[in-house]
Amino acid sequence: MSDLKKAAARAAKLRELINDYRYHYHVLNKSIMSEAAADSLKHELTRIEEKYPDLITADSPTQRVAGEPLPGFKQVQHSSRMLSLNDVFDADELAAWIDRIKKLLPAGTKLEYFMDIKMDGLAAALDYQDGVYKQAITRGDGFVGEDVSANVRTIESVPLRLRQTKDNAKFLRGRTEIRGEIVMYKEDFRKLNARQAKAGRPAFANPRNTAAGTIRQLNPKLVAARPLHFHAYDLIRDSKAEVPTNNFAYETLCALGIIANPMATVAKSADEIINFYKKWEHERQKLPFNTDGLVVKVNDRRLHERLGVVGKAPRGSVAFKYPAEQATTKVKDIFVSIGRTGAATPVAMLEPVVVAGSTVQMATLHNEGEVHRKDIRIGDSVIVHKAGDVIPEVIRPLVKLRDGSEKKFVMPTRCPDCGTRLVKAKATEAIWRCPNNACPSRSWKLIGHFASKGALDIDGLGEKNAMALIEAGLIKDPADIYKIKNDDLLKLERFADISAAKLVAAIQDKKNPPLPRFIYALGIRQVGEQTAIDLANHFHSLEKLRSATIDELSQIEGVGEVVAESIVEWFARPSHKRLLDKFKKLGVKPQEIRRSAGPLTGKSFVITGSLESISREEAAERIRARGGTFQTSVGNETDYLVVGDNVGANKLDRAEKLGTKQIDEQKLLDLLSK
Ligand code: IVH
Repeated sequence: MSDLKKAAARAAKLRELINDYRYHYHVLNKSIMSEAAADSLKHELTRIEEKYPDLITADSPTQRVAGEPLPGFKQVQHSSRMLSLNDVFDADELAAWIDRIKKLLPAGTKLEYFMDIKMDGLAAALDYQDGVYKQAITRGDGFVGEDVSANVRTIESVPLRLRQTKDNAKFLRGRTEIRGEIVMYKEDFRKLNARQAKAGRPAFANPRNTAAGTIRQLNPKLVAARPLHFHAYDLIRDSKAEVPTNNFAYETLCALGIIANPMATVAKSADEIINFYKKWEHERQKLPFNTDGLVVKVNDRRLHERLGVVGKAPRGSVAFKYPAEQATTKVKDIFVSIGRTGAATPVAMLEPVVVAGSTVQMATLHNEGEVHRKDIRIGDSVIVHKAGDVIPEVIRPLVKLRDGSEKKFVMPTRCPDCGTRLVKAKATEAIWRCPNNACPSRSWKLIGHFASKGALDIDGLGEKNAMALIEAGLIKDPADIYKIKNDDLLKLERFADISAAKLVAAIQDKKNPPLPRFIYALGIRQVGEQTAIDLANHFHSLEKLRSATIDELSQIEGVGEVVAESIVEWFARPSHKRLLDKFKKLGVKPQEIRRSAGPLTGKSFVITGSLESISREEAAERIRARGGTFQTSVGNETDYLVVGDNVGANKLDRAEKLGTKQIDEQKLLDLLSK
């Protein structure tokens, strides 16, 4: 065989295997090899294609790379109009829809319905020619959309070639159009916004807008960097008889290697539709994407077609929506609440209103700028929104309902609790803060945090007791707790002999807390438990951390510039210097950690599930004592996932995907006894 022939055969095999890996990973959520191995295969394929450019095919995995920025999007006509859906909101409206369509069909027609979750993303129509990805068009006005082919090409769950199985060969001939929704998963959205916050950039509003904004980016490289997914809901062929039912469409889509929601199913009656609707009303929180209802369609596509279109919507389909997560109410007042880190957050007091099943009386307005940007005034009628267990938000005022009596909100210049002048770290910062450590409304939250489980873990000192102790004038800041005596507590109603003695003992027991816990307990903005551990591991002592510079801090892995700035700013404040000196005077001395290199130096561990012979905390301490690191989630740098009982799927899945080594409890104990 000639070299060229050999290369061609090898390239074809590589393509098949890489594509198989991609399909399992991005469509089936399974892994057939590690990411590193797949990357290595891709690398080999790239080298072959570089040497023999004639071997490059349009569907080669190497062609998924994000191309050059586009000057603009081409307008493209849809093969058939992309319609929208009319809504129904309850069982009565659903029954009325069924009655209506039955009347339009021959008497006695047996109807089956096809139901799917209505995904909250943006619609796209994908065009495959002889099984190869050609084009992707946005919905646009339904008739004409924008050619976003280069961007959609970067979505890993979109196959560049449809999969062929023995029953679906004809869909790989000629033109096959696949319509569906491009979504950003909630979890990815959360992570994206966490990254934005860390970098000091503004947050994205919601996953749908972010997905839509991303797809309309002119630079495909930016699109490739954002995690998007494509879930199909329609399969279109020129010859309509090839797709007789919607159920068949979904089965075929799956066979072609495209994600179609697995929970989508057929119902034979209104009752079955209602059952499905009720089942997903709560379970939908667990779906990876947002949804506000179901899509219900007549399953038989010939009947569906026969029912026709009214306005922009097909008669044969409806969106069956869940109760609104939005409602309107009035803003009675706007006050400022001071949080643990001193952040002064404007909060709207609302006339009570039921949103998504629970009564809402307050909603965060985030910061002063947000109140003015949205122009929310006291007395305004507003739209409020509540999603899952998230704090309710005011979306916007209904300006047309104003009668002139509304009052603009003026951000106070002083803390409403202690009167200290509010400050901003930088003029560009959105949030005003109360800099007074001893501010009563700050201190009870701060002291509660200081004593919380992940921090010093002082039993019996929650936020409520902290507030009672502050009100009694016993304490002002976290250091004061070490001065509390039995007799002081006995003067308060909430303490009796035993509880007082217990609390004093619990506090005194924590005079030499581990350094990472102490750092976390200080409540420095941006410093969570892991960052506190990283800081302790790097500096070994509080004194060294106190004098660290931004440069020094930024060099630590996991500490970005924003975190570094926040730390330096915290230690520079005179009130914080006084607080730390007070701790010292009272004999509070965090255990300085000298981490000598140990047998586990350079190894990092994650535990999933429960271990039999030791607690998670104990395991963590022992791993660290031997020089290893203990992490809470599996990442690229994780060396071992310790698998206990009753494990959650997340960490395991991730470990499988990353090819992380999995060990059992016994193996961990072996490593710890070395
Ligand atoms: S079926 C007539 N199924 O909802 C179009 N659509 O309001 C119906 N959508 O533009 C298509 N999830 O983008 C269908 N499981 C699903 C859907 C879904 C979301 C979108 C679709 C459409 C809009 C209609």
